[in-house]
Amino acid sequence: MSVEAEAAAVGRTAGHARTQEVVWHHRHLLDVDVVTWPEIELIMRTTDEMKGVLARPIRKVPALNGRRVTTLFYEASTRTRVSFETAARNLSADVVSVSTATSSVTKGESLVDTIRTLEALGAEILVMRHSVSGAPHLAAEIFGGHVLNGGDGWHAHPTQALLDLYTMRQHLPDGDLRGRKVAIVGDILHSRVARSNIWSLTAAGADLWLCGPATLLRGMDRWATAWDGGAIPGHGRFHVTSDVDAAVRDADVVMALRIQRERMQGGLLPSLREYAARFGLNAERVSLAKPEAIVMHPGPMNEGVEIAPDVAISGRAVITEQVANGVAVRMALLYLLAGAHEAAVGHEAAR
Ligand code: MLT
Repeated sequence: MSVEAEAAAVGRTAGHARTQEVVWHHRHLLDVDVVTWPEIELIMRTTDEMKGVLARPIRKVPALNGRRVTTLFYEASTRTRVSFETAARNLSADVVSVSTATSSVTKGESLVDTIRTLEALGAEILVMRHSVSGAPHLAAEIFGGHVLNGGDGWHAHPTQALLDLYTMRQHLPDGDLRGRKVAIVGDILHSRVARSNIWSLTAAGADLWLCGPATLLRGMDRWATAWDGGAIPGHGRFHVTSDVDAAVRDADVVMALRIQRERMQGGLLPSLREYAARFGLNAERVSLAKPEAIVMHPGPMNEGVEIAPDVAISGRAVITEQVANGVAVRMALLYLLAGAHEAAVGHEAAR
């Protein structure tokens, strides 16, 4: 098949960001709290198409040919950054990777100046990670193109939540999370992964349980009980507990989160050893979950702390599938955002 035909094949199904009545209209993706359930389903369907592309001998389509994707990571990353760059290249985009350690950031250049410079250099889609919550929101205010949040502070990691959701759907009958018990165990307090997962998993109708030491659950109880679904139906309530056995018992999905020492002030945990003993996912704890339950981890893993090495490589673990699905989910999002740009330009031109 020619590359043009390949592009048409992807475009036919994703329909220039339009499938089954749902039109993607978001210019940026900063978190999943602004995305409706039909839009999440559009992302999931578009990801299916991208998985189809990845299953071919040549894993490349020209959908973003000539478009410029820039990754700007102010924090360490292996999988998220490589995944975004691979996704952009699979769509034939031109990729520029800015490492802040070797950029003018080290000479004191501000975030705003850096973003304006990258835009002047032709960036159209900016994938950004920053240690400060809200930094991508600031970028979205000043950048003329699209901003994709690759993780900001403790706040949000939308593409991780979406790839987690995609992976869970692959393993659950009919891909349906309604009423399915999902236990997330670990350092919830500092986790942007947990926060974004709260939005997407409650929207999916999952029975969500967050579990960790009380010091690492601070504020979650209030969120769990006060939240009424807000403006977006389906974003709802969840359970919060320090009883790991209660959280894991009969779960369909068990996800471990890393203890984020780099974000932690002293005194929240007596020791990692004690944490591992009381909350670490070991084989005995995981055996409380349903026999067909899957074990997830967003990575990077600290084996022997939040997850035992034998659990991480057990038949239940889908951790490398999460990584592989990340490429397809990010391809879908780059494709949808770029399509939203075309729709906006077309709309302007038509006016
Ligand atoms: C993140 O960037 O938040 C990671 O995916 C999870 C972690 O750092 O533990």
